[in-house]
Amino acid sequence: MNATKARWRRAPSGRADARRTGPLTGVVTAPGDKSISHRALILGALARGETRITGLLEADDVLRTAAAMRALGVGVERDRSSSGAIWRVEGAAWAAPTRPLYFGNSGTGVRLIMGAAAGAHVATSFEGDVSLRSRPMGRVLEPLRMMGVEATDRDGRLPVDLEACEDLKAINVKLATPSAQVKSAILLAALGADGVTRVHEPELCRDHTERMLAAFGASLSMTPDGEGGRFIEVAGGQPLNACDVAVPGDPSSAAFPIAAALITEGSDVTVKGVLINPLRIGFYETLKEMGADISFENERDENGEPVADIRARHSLLHGVEVPASRAPSMIDEYPILAIVAAHAHGETMMRGLGELRVKESDRIACVEAGLAAIGGDAASGPDWLRVRGKGSGPKGGLKGGALIKTHHDHRIAMSFLVAGLASEKPVEIDDASMIATSFPEFFGLMMSLGGDMGAV
Ligand code: S3P
Repeated sequence: MNATKARWRRAPSGRADARRTGPLTGVVTAPGDKSISHRALILGALARGETRITGLLEADDVLRTAAAMRALGVGVERDRSSSGAIWRVEGAAWAAPTRPLYFGNSGTGVRLIMGAAAGAHVATSFEGDVSLRSRPMGRVLEPLRMMGVEATDRDGRLPVDLEACEDLKAINVKLATPSAQVKSAILLAALGADGVTRVHEPELCRDHTERMLAAFGASLSMTPDGEGGRFIEVAGGQPLNACDVAVPGDPSSAAFPIAAALITEGSDVTVKGVLINPLRIGFYETLKEMGADISFENERDENGEPVADIRARHSLLHGVEVPASRAPSMIDEYPILAIVAAHAHGETMMRGLGELRVKESDRIACVEAGLAAIGGDAASGPDWLRVRGKGSGPKGGLKGGALIKTHHDHRIAMSFLVAGLASEKPVEIDDASMIATSFPEFFGLMMSLGGDMGAV
């Protein structure tokens, strides 16, 4: 690692690259979970009293949610303690902001707060960056309109204006896509509706909103639908009470150092304090099926969520079939899984990926093009991706030596930098700035394990 690169503790903006070095070794702590961080700020802002949050992910997406809460009239302060930052949220009746709320790249922030603002009966306008403006918002606006909210959008996309709706009606709705953001937006709106809202979730997706609503004193009922899904019911008019939230480490961020260890010879990496909620660990289950030497150690319960230290060592992997039913539990991990699959022996087939087309970028297209550029072998269809692996070690791996287009997508950026750590020649990405939306310490953390990456 050279001196210029060592300066990049936070994600640089502009081009960056990663190159092959020795093994990755060490013990690191995962940054706070992004999903739980957004929800802690939003529920704290709706609750009576002061919510104290430790371990909050201080990344751009979450900081925009904090700024949105302030713009809605909520007190949000950051204090320091000997063990790290404490975020204090003083819940309040929300007031209509004077300007549109700007969410940058954050789909979770914008969608959850649309629901919460509807439930809080405030008129609010929503804006985002070029990537967020291309993403579908109709999936949230449709149920909100069913509840009585008047909304204006541009072809189902941002910018969106919501009118205040004083007599919000409870609804009975079946999710058309397995989306935790949509489910959460409906549940948050339901808090301000007249009557009991019932959401049918045919495929289970992350349940942090449900768990946290219960921790804030709301009563919800969850009933299996008999076919693998469930019904969630929540009555409107329930007050939330402030509580303390300790945010566990993000399994979606931990996926990058874990994947890097698996594909880089001689590596042995532990990521401490990672959330292992069963609805979030499809990536790790898949790695085990591929033959990865990976273990959950020191499993414990922290604030109602299961947590473990995850250890991974370089492994000889084989390709697998990843069933469509697993997609909701690893939806953000497919780009890095594709990089791991490119270092396995044989073919990995990933199905049920339709939602990847409407993430921060079209992730299927980005991964396919990126892998082709660095000597990988990938093919895709509307909702599937197939990767033929090259193996790892001195005779395997990818060629590298190309510039990857990241299309404003943090996970594409990090995935291809990880690929660079195991490729013959360096892998360069066109823009590293989006990494700060979810994992600002990515470069520092990877370098502390011995990875060679930085700005070019
Ligand atoms: C999230 C849900 C997922 C995920 C996103 C975070 C959440 O999106 O991709 O990064 O916090 O609810 P969908 O709800 O669109 O599946």
